[in-house]
Amino acid sequence: MAGHGTPIPMTARKSAALKGTALIPGDKSVSHRALILGALTVGETHVTGLLEGQDVLDTGKAMAVFGADVQRLGAGEWIINGVGVGGFAEPEDVIDCGNAGTGVRLIMGAMATSPITATFTGDASLRSRPMGRILDPLKLFGAQSVGRAKGMLPLTLVGARDPMPARYTSPFPSAQVKSAVLLAGLNAPGKTVLIEREKTRDHSERMLRGFGAQVETIKTGAGYEITLQGQPELTPQTIAVPRDPSSAAFPVAAALIVEGSEILLPNIGLNPTRAGLFTTLLEMGADITYENAREEGGEPVADLRVRASQLRGIEVPPDRAPSMIDEYPILSALAAFASGKTVMRGVKELRVKECDRIDAMARGLEAMGVTIEEGEDFLIVHGQDGDVAGGITAQTHLDHRIAMSFLCMGLATAKPVSIDDAGAIATSFPVFEGLMTGLGAQVQRDNH
Ligand code: S3P
Repeated sequence: MAGHGTPIPMTARKSAALKGTALIPGDKSVSHRALILGALTVGETHVTGLLEGQDVLDTGKAMAVFGADVQRLGAGEWIINGVGVGGFAEPEDVIDCGNAGTGVRLIMGAMATSPITATFTGDASLRSRPMGRILDPLKLFGAQSVGRAKGMLPLTLVGARDPMPARYTSPFPSAQVKSAVLLAGLNAPGKTVLIEREKTRDHSERMLRGFGAQVETIKTGAGYEITLQGQPELTPQTIAVPRDPSSAAFPVAAALIVEGSEILLPNIGLNPTRAGLFTTLLEMGADITYENAREEGGEPVADLRVRASQLRGIEVPPDRAPSMIDEYPILSALAAFASGKTVMRGVKELRVKECDRIDAMARGLEAMGVTIEEGEDFLIVHGQDGDVAGGITAQTHLDHRIAMSFLCMGLATAKPVSIDDAGAIATSFPVFEGLMTGLGAQVQRDNH
């Protein structure tokens, strides 16, 4: 589990042009959902391209503890023989979800309407993240919980014996909240309705439909109303997980700022609820082309070709935030190399991710001499037109995306950029180091 081992300090140094093909691992969001829905389905679900990052492995372990048979056949290839909707067994021990907010929140949703009790914990990062946003709607189904202040982990969730369907308007633009409610709704009779004001990633809805559940989304004056018909008969699926656009963002960013680079990233998931970063980068003048656009396993994918580019700062439309929420750290890193300022507003959710990502990026950028402006829900980075000093050790706070963002910067800064701990990278992008060095990036562990 990330954050439980000895810290792994790493340093990135100015690199020659990055070249080659980057095979990005499977999408983290889709991988969690494939394991959970597989576990809720009687029969054999076959998954290829599963992300074998620690977050997803922890979800797989949890599914086994709840009674599913979860087997690895080979690299990224897994089969899950599930227990059926409402069939989860009661765990005998505490479920440790490691660093994974998505894992713990979706699993809590999936068990909240079964007559079992489970206790959840995680690493220091996960134990500091708010769970009240999940527990509030899960109460509507009849579940109960006992946890620390603000519902923080460790906490015990007592699933509803006689679940009721719920109708809930989410106060957060959060796919985790939406997905927890929909997964809970699976074992409640009748219709569960979730209303979200802004459209967040829709992998759960797509995959639930793929498994045979009835899920309808309509646009209303209040936003998006998603209705799930409870107690469906799910049918096992074959799922090809697309490669993760949020992980692709790091080599893409590195190629944009390292002079003379040109890389190809095949088969990247480009679900419109996830691809906001690429739209933003195109507006900033990035040379990114989509080749071979197609649909695979219900998700749009394409091969991305990226060439080094001179970027210009822009104002990112705040309503784009949900479709690129995990990409603001790497965007703010790129913004430091752009000309002019990049304005990111409507991003207060960044404060409750694996760490406070506005604070973590702002502190590191400032230490390099980059001018930033920061507020509760905004970050403005004043670009330095390609000329960024580096020469710092950034604090990563058990946050994989902060770690990778600073390492990517160091490939193009005047002086190297170090990070205090690269351990968390394994949660989402376990092959980051080898993949980057394979493209020609100078990233090394400090003790080497
Ligand atoms: C995720 C949703 C997002 C995102 C996280 C993955 C998901 O969180 O930050 O990395 O798979 O549903 P929120 O839903 O809390 O915004």
